[in-house]
Order: sequence, then structure tokens, then C-alpha cells
Amino acid sequence: MGTLPRNRTESQQYNEDKLGFGDIFTDHMLVIEYSDMDGDWKNPQIIKTENLSLHPAAMILHYGQQVFEGLKAFAGPKDTDILLFRPDMNIARFNRSCVRMCIPTLDPRIFMDQMSELVRTDRDWIPRSPGTSMYIRPTVIATDPHLGVRPSKKYLFFIILSPVGAYYPEGFEPVRIMVTDKYVRAAMGGVGEAKTAANYAASLFAAEEAHSEGFTQVLWLNATDKSSIEEVGTMNIFFRIDDEIITPKLGGTILPGVTRDSVLQLCRAKGMKVSERVISIHELVSAAKSGKLQEVFGSGTAAVVSPVSHFRYMGHDYMVADGKTGQVARDLFDEITDIQLAKKPDPYGWVVNVG
Ligand code: COI
Repeated sequence: MGTLPRNRTESQQYNEDKLGFGDIFTDHMLVIEYSDMDGDWKNPQIIKTENLSLHPAAMILHYGQQVFEGLKAFAGPKDTDILLFRPDMNIARFNRSCVRMCIPTLDPRIFMDQMSELVRTDRDWIPRSPGTSMYIRPTVIATDPHLGVRPSKKYLFFIILSPVGAYYPEGFEPVRIMVTDKYVRAAMGGVGEAKTAANYAASLFAAEEAHSEGFTQVLWLNATDKSSIEEVGTMNIFFRIDDEIITPKLGGTILPGVTRDSVLQLCRAKGMKVSERVISIHELVSAAKSGKLQEVFGSGTAAVVSPVSHFRYMGHDYMVADGKTGQVARDLFDEITDIQLAKKPDPYGWVVNVG
């Protein structure tokens, strides 16, 4: 029946070797409430994971005022280790997203302390099989029962935990992506760089179309003239063209990914030519046609580093690196996961042990 985590009751057992993404939840959750009467976040509590009780007029249900994050905890070499990967980056991004969505920010120290306490509470749920981790999902929602359009006066911050395996059914096998010139994810001045539910809701229709044609994800272009590449539905995107590692530069419409930043730092440290710049879809297509396109891969917390074997643009299919995983993607995946699991030195101080 595979590896079963320790110290769990019969009903809490799950098979670590068959973990997908996001279906299993641990026993406990963290809740913190905000009311403008107090003007502050009050009374953090770790409680049994339970359904939320919301008034049907709660503003999240009508106007979508929400922010979330995603980060991972890993079991380390010592039994007591609980290793978080760059939690400061997620907390800072969470607060930036909150500002954009008119939600009060949380004190980063309280966020970190409470999140660590929750993970320690459910430490026995952290899976230990290769390729698994505990996904941490901090979320804030507007709870004020009110139907006029304005920022809510009450909020609920919660964190839930989910033991996960690979994000894509393909695992680390290459995925196929569909470039859409029909739909857009985010326009300049919009909320594209905030981690808020609206961006994901807006992506679903195009993603379903892509799935129906055999593609795993959508590659988005810029909203105005659909000439430059932005990101994939759940990942930032990287290209290796003529030994230059290229990723679209941040500028308001792209999610500033934690794994994106880690990939950039690791590639620079290896002395590779690395560019954060505009890359047009035409540059990509001509690199694919001329044989200069060596690799395409995505980066994200959930997916880590995910190689891309094919892309479709305007009805034409292009194969990347003979449909195989490229060396840079493989090395980055190994290096990042080895650092996350403390199998390798962590010269950047990315890993925080909260065990
Ligand atoms: C993540 O990589 O954490 C994401 O946010 C992607 C997705 C699961 C929403």
C-alpha cells in the first residue's frame, strides 16, 4: 500500500506514492480575523479543519476580493526538520497582492510564526516519498456581508495544508503548451502581478480549450497586440535560445514567481547568459524553425521546473529539443529540489527550518 506517514489515525492515512495535487487536507487550519472596528488582525487560532461559515452576502462571493499564496514544506534529513523554501518571498508577495486588492496586510512576523506553528502541528502529515511535499495555501477573503461595491470591512485569513505529489499528471515528463492569440490573462494596469483568484478564474476557459486539444497549459501573450510572451497558466516561462536563458521581464502583468527568481539566481551563478527581457512569439517561432531553440521550461512552486516538449501557435505545432527534457531544466529541477530537501548546501539561505 506504499509509504504511510507516521502517527496518524486509520482515517487519516493516504498513499504517499499515489499523491496528486490538492485533494488531501490535513487535520488543522489557521484562522485570523480582521475587522475595521479593531483595525487589526486579531486572535490567531489553530483549529480543526472545518467548513467555513459565510453569510451569502459575504463580499468574496460577489466581488472576488481575495489573495492567496502557495509554498511548500519538506521533511528534512533529521526527523525533526521541517524545511520551508523562501517563505519570506511568499509573505512579501502576499502583502503586495493585498495592497493591490485593497485588503489589509499582515505583519510578516506574525504570518511566519503562525504558519510555522500550523506546520509543526500537522508535522506528521508531511510526506517523505521522493517528489512529495506539504503544500501550504495561505488565503485571505472578504467576509463583510454587503452588496455595494467597495472594499470589505471584514476579512478572514486562513492557511490550509495539503500533502502533494507532482502538479501535472505528467510528473517531470515534458508538457505540451498552447499559445493563445484569442484570449488574454492580464492587461497592463490590471491585477496580473497580484496572486488573486480573478487571474485564475480568467484563465479557465482558454485552459479548457487547450486541454480538449491535448495541451496541458496555455501560454499567454500580452493583451494589447499579442506579440510578446507573458507566462503559462500556473508557471513562469523560460527559453534557452542559442545558449541564452530568456524569461519575460516583470512589468505588472506577470506573476513575480519565487521559483522564477530562484532559477534566475542559479543560472546566473553558473555563469550562463541570462536575460529578463521582452521575447516575442515571432522570436520563439523563428528560433524553433532555425533549430536555435534548445529548451523551453516553466517554473512555479507547485510544478518546480517543468520541461515543455511542444507548443502550438496559430495552428502550427513546434517540437522542442526532440520532445525530450533539456539538460538545463533537468539540472535546475535537481538543484532546486536538492536545496529544498537540504541534500545540498544552501548558499543563498533560502531554506528555513521551522521544525
Ligand atoms: C503555485 O505554483 O503555487 C501556484 O500558485 C500554481 C497553482 C497551483 C495555482
